[in-house]
Amino acid sequence: MAKDPVRVLVTGAAGQIGYALVPMIARGVMLGADQPVILHMLDIPPAAEALNGVKMELVDAAFPLLKGVVATTDAVEACTGVNIAVMVGGFPRKEGMERKDVMSKNVSIYKSQASALEKHAAANCKVLVVANPANTNALILKEFAPSIPEKNITCLTRLDHNRALGQISERLNVQVSDVKNVIIWGNHSSTQYPDVTHATVNTPAGEKPVRELVADDKWLNEEFIAVVQQRGAAIIKARKLSSALSAASSACDHIRDWVLGTPEGTWVSMGVYSDGSYNVPSGLIYSFPVTCKNGEWCIVQGENTSDRYHFSLVNEFYVMLTRLSYISRTLHR
Ligand code: NAD
Ligand code: LMR
Repeated sequence: MAKDPVRVLVTGAAGQIGYALVPMIARGVMLGADQPVILHMLDIPPAAEALNGVKMELVDAAFPLLKGVVATTDAVEACTGVNIAVMVGGFPRKEGMERKDVMSKNVSIYKSQASALEKHAAANCKVLVVANPANTNALILKEFAPSIPEKNITCLTRLDHNRALGQISERLNVQVSDVKNVIIWGNHSSTQYPDVTHATVNTPAGEKPVRELVADDKWLNEEFIAVVQQRGAAIIKARKLSSALSAASSACDHIRDWVLGTPEGTWVSMGVYSDGSYNVPSGLIYSFPVTCKNGEWCIVQGENTSDRYHFSLVNEFYVMLTRLSYISRTLHR
């Protein structure tokens, strides 16, 4: 029997990421080739005509799984009945800026859209925040939508995770699908810590540690980390626009694994609320290694952490404190 359609909200749907993301969702990349979807697309009034153009293209593409499209500039209409919300709406940074530099513009969006989601989304709606600064926007959403369970509010660090897999695969000249279990700790910012301590490569002789195969700790501890941390800036420098297709694809990976589960023995990185694991203060939205089953994520426990991890934790904690103080000054008025 055919499945009932799932309603998926994409905010900022007329933008760069939105334009790459909505066809992926309509093709089944996010929820599977047997899962019909109804797309809810939200943007702001100045982008209404462009949004309508995206809707026209979705109709013209005749996606068999696409059972309806709502294209609107009204947040209540956009959020009504949605099962999954991918929050992309907001402003990207430009060359030379840090992601936190778009905070003042973007966090207020997440305050107002939190209440629309809280009041009008379907029960148990899963939320993925993509817009930067992603951890902080997710924290705002959690704060201003207190009736959405905190386990349902996440942010995207899967792009950083995928970037780390890509770098290892290029360095070792192996298929990216043979590399697994890197970890992104922390924020989706240049202070994050990409960690290969437990990462492995599937070889004809079985699974081997990345560190053993690379056999170059200097590269792993310095260049690899810097490249992953700075990849967003490198793409902006090259494209004069921020990453879009890789962000859209990683957003699909994040939701697919969350809803359908991670493969046995594999973990992925997700920005989720901290329950105090690995000494990360409770309540922060922080990127951890997680496994997913039956639509729930679970932080991988008991992995060894290095001195560099502890250094990064202090760093990240400082970043979050600065942001929280900004939020309490500006939003709770
Ligand atoms: P873009 O400027 O091309 O598109 C953003 C869209 O959001 C625009 O159409 C804009 O009109 C819309 N928008 C603005 N305010 C809105 C609001 N209140 N409600 C609904 N829509 C609104 O930008 P983009 O390249 O698509 O990037 C979107 C965001 O995603 C940026 O903040 C960017 O920095 C971030 N990003 C995050 C990651 C990640 O890994 N977490 C990766 C890439 C980009
Ligand atoms: C990215 O990592 O590509 C995005 O966060 C965009 C940016 O500002 O770097």
